[in-house]
Amino acid sequence: MSSDLDAALFGEIDPPQRLLMGPGPVNAHPRVLRAMSADLLGQFDPEMTAYMNQVMALYRPIFGTSNRWTMLIDGTARSAIEAALVSLVAPGDRVLVVNFGRFGLLLTEILARIGATVETVDASWGEVVPMDAIAHAIEKFGPKVVACVHGDTSTTMAQPLDGLGALCRAAGALSYIDATATNVADGFHYLDDRPGKPVGTAPATTPQEGELP
Ligand SMILES: Cc1ncc(COP(=O)(O)O)c(C=O)c1O
Repeated sequence: MSSDLDAALFGEIDPPQRLLMGPGPVNAHPRVLRAMSADLLGQFDPEMTAYMNQVMALYRPIFGTSNRWTMLIDGTARSAIEAALVSLVAPGDRVLVVNFGRFGLLLTEILARIGATVETVDASWGEVVPMDAIAHAIEKFGPKVVACVHGDTSTTMAQPLDGLGALCRAAGALSYIDATATNVADGFHYLDDRPGKPVGTAPATTPQEGELP
């Protein structure tokens, strides 16, 4: 029997060794690699639920939160960003993006695909957005969600977040934070009194009033 498939495509997987030190994938501890070679379980297996509960317990201190729904989305950072935004935002919802780099643009692109009505409050690359400009934009636009990157990797700038939660709460808006590059490493702490959901390297946390899928 002939086949168009090239047998060389299906050799044993033997990737080269790389030192990974970016905000994306990093080298895993051998204990983690061993766990990843264990047999598969179905996602509804009670044993799997127990492992997921362990993961939630391990990630709460990372965010510094007691939020029950603190979980790991299985994918790169973007998978958690999309999961959070698709859950929070419906077509036509008004979303204000605090935009000061490439990853602010990523938020506007994803939100546009969801069909949100997007407004941005911008800073030039290399700068951050002053809190009074954000306050003014919230007042003027009346968003349902304010979406902000904490550390924008493209410019290395960290947007100050102090006061953002209070502004959102006063305006009845949810606050969404992408902390992919700053969670843990840059002293980013999710605060229980800040409404919304920061998202890091695909872990995500949310208070009960906003639910992830
Ligand atoms: C701030 C920020 N947000 C989102 C992403 C997207 O992450 P990923 O490529 O892991 O999906 C990155 C990637 O570098 C990032 O630095």
